[in-house]
Amino acid sequence: MVAAATGGVKAAPLLDILRRRIAAEGPITVTAYMADCLLHPEHGYYRSQEAIGLHGDFITAPEISQMFGELLGLWAADYWQRMGAPAQCYLVELGPGRGTLMRDALRAARALPAFRAALTPVLVEASARLRGLQAAALEGEGAIWHEQIAAIPKDAPLLLLANEFLDALPVRQFQRGDDGAWHERCVGLDEATNGLRFLLDPRALPFDDLLPPVLRDSPPGSIVESSPPVRAVAVEVAARLKHQGGAALFIDYGYASAGVGETLQAVYRHTYADPLENPGLADLTAHVDFGSFALAAKRAGVTISGPVGQGAFLNALGIKARAAKLQQGNGAQAGDVDQALRRLTAPEAMGTLFKVLALTPPESPQPAGFA
Ligand SMILES: C[S@@+](CC[C@H](N)C(=O)[O-])C[C@H]1O[C@@H](n2cnc3c(N)ncnc32)[C@H](O)[C@@H]1O
Repeated sequence: MVAAATGGVKAAPLLDILRRRIAAEGPITVTAYMADCLLHPEHGYYRSQEAIGLHGDFITAPEISQMFGELLGLWAADYWQRMGAPAQCYLVELGPGRGTLMRDALRAARALPAFRAALTPVLVEASARLRGLQAAALEGEGAIWHEQIAAIPKDAPLLLLANEFLDALPVRQFQRGDDGAWHERCVGLDEATNGLRFLLDPRALPFDDLLPPVLRDSPPGSIVESSPPVRAVAVEVAARLKHQGGAALFIDYGYASAGVGETLQAVYRHTYADPLENPGLADLTAHVDFGSFALAAKRAGVTISGPVGQGAFLNALGIKARAAKLQQGNGAQAGDVDQALRRLTAPEAMGTLFKVLALTPPESPQPAGFA
């Protein structure tokens, strides 16, 4: 149980709903569990909780410093120029949280008035609650909202940004059993505690694309993750870029190629928690497999840049110069800016675990930051 802001103990209403569903239908996949925890219409985490920021469960790069969103805005402005400065384009953000990144990116975009005049901000957000926060942050900016990538307008190039969006998409988990076969990992009822527990689907999993061949001989007990929704985003965005032109930038924590191991994790109030303990009250994420994401996008016909570490990427975009500028004549803020710079770029902070990958149509200019 987790202490609520009021000091009492907060019950997870979704736990009761899941218990009833599992009692009626049998165990559900980890994917179905994660999808309900995050986006259940009433009790999903992003629909009901104060997730991001100082008063939420976790802090993301745009909430650490304005430098992050500003540099991404300048990255987009630079690519717009490399594309030949089209008269119209969409600056799209997937999963914009509190709207901070887009707000900072648009402020930086004003440095190039022709770019600001050409772009329409588009936010793709599933949570009505967060759409409200974003609207407040972006008042007067002429932004439009959609709930799905499929609804993004199709009549102009896209400059698409996605920070910590892919890690919020559900994963499937497979475990090798003592019988040598692979089984899907599911969530069932724990009669002893009246809570939830992991168990394996007794049916053996047929080998297919979901299980990379190099991992199939892993020892019994090994867990492998795979995210069909993450690969679907790669394919959908790649198709749009080929059709409309533009560039897409994905930033997230993850690994460069598929490996063995479980990365599903829950965070409540900046602390790691049991993923099965507080469904709908804790954030649930999984590390992004950038290798599979890149392969899916490449097969869909786009060019891949990266992944590179977030630190290397932000340094290449000039974050140190931006930090120095913010510190000029503002001695009181200098320490905060230094600290933010370190958190965003140092290898022991977000500089290496967080990775940046860009997609561009074939035979188009290379985006900045990947030299
Ligand atoms: C971890 S937060 C990241 C927020 C923001 N990008 C930041 O860096 O602060 C994930 C965001 O993606 C949104 N999201 C999660 N799943 C989504 C989906 N399937 N479609 C659209 N938005 C989704 C969440 O509501 C939230 O805004």
